[in-house]
Amino acid sequence: MSPFHITRTLPEDAMAAALRADVRHGLTADPKTLPPKWFYDAHGSDLFERITELPEYYPTRAEREILADRAHEIAAALPARTLVELGSGSSEKTRYLLDALTDLHTYVPVDVSESALEQAGRSLAAERPGLDVHALIADFTAGLTLPDTPGPRLLAFLGGTIGNLLPDERARFLTGLRALLAPGDALLLGTDLVKDEAVLVRAYDDAAGVTAAFDKNVLSVVNRELGADFDPDAFDHVALWNADHEWIEMRLRSLTAQTVKVPALDLAVDFAAGEELRTEVSAKFRREGVTGELAAAGLDLTRWWTDGEGRFALSLSVAR
Ligand code: SAH
Ligand code: TRP
Repeated sequence: MSPFHITRTLPEDAMAAALRADVRHGLTADPKTLPPKWFYDAHGSDLFERITELPEYYPTRAEREILADRAHEIAAALPARTLVELGSGSSEKTRYLLDALTDLHTYVPVDVSESALEQAGRSLAAERPGLDVHALIADFTAGLTLPDTPGPRLLAFLGGTIGNLLPDERARFLTGLRALLAPGDALLLGTDLVKDEAVLVRAYDDAAGVTAAFDKNVLSVVNRELGADFDPDAFDHVALWNADHEWIEMRLRSLTAQTVKVPALDLAVDFAAGEELRTEVSAKFRREGVTGELAAAGLDLTRWWTDGEGRFALSLSVAR
């Protein structure tokens, strides 16, 4: 059993305040929105794990294939002593990296989901004697401070989660990541690629309805945390491809005209019949775009790997 620490860099009251601000802002905007990080309470994290096993949801399998094939090349390119992983969730695919990085001293999983970090962090620390696991409950968009651990550092951001940030958020985020690295440290980034629209839409609107339940879970979070009276059954899950932006948009469509009360915000929100609330985007990428966005943040793309079907890419870029 090796050391397991869990640090809350986000105090619970700051998190509650951020949720209130996001919900007030999003539900009074036109069109209405809710930001994605609030999907991942304990139930949401479980639902996401079920999504990763769906036949329609290819990104997890494609990225796992790349990691299984390439973890040793990654470790040879950057023999990290510290692996930091943003939005680590279950850390399931990370095991390929942990196995290949033979000089690794510390693993720092970072997530907003305390339940995911507890489960994943404890079992990794128990399984891997000699590995220091230092979990951080933190919002990776809000300015991270990392523990003082040995370099070189490899920063992993898997799952295509970067696509859940809007382009301007992404630029700020990548610049912030660069500031966490020393020259020569590297970023391992997972990006889902532009492909046939029908394949993309199915991945975000599966036949079993797991993604619909995941999308609607954000309403349950607002009900529980802010006393709101959203009826999840009064909304339909919608996934559509936005060809201009090259992203999938997830929306919740109000089936009827209805008013939702949010007592903690002293707010009543009117929905017209058919009105849509945007819950998440999932941007899809091309190599040129990824290279350019990384370069603008001071990160030079040195390696690019895809799965056999060219659906998903992992890139390694080095801090200038
Ligand atoms: N890396 C895993 C999980 C991806 S799901 C995989 O590839 O399967 C996205 C993860 O990012 C979730 O665990 C979620 O809790 C976390 N997350 C989303 N927004 C976040 C934020 N702003 N700060 C920290 N973690 C976040
Ligand atoms: N990072 C995942 C993705 O963009 C998150 C995700 C998968 C998701 N399915 C979803 C988010 C459905 C909201 C709704 O692929």
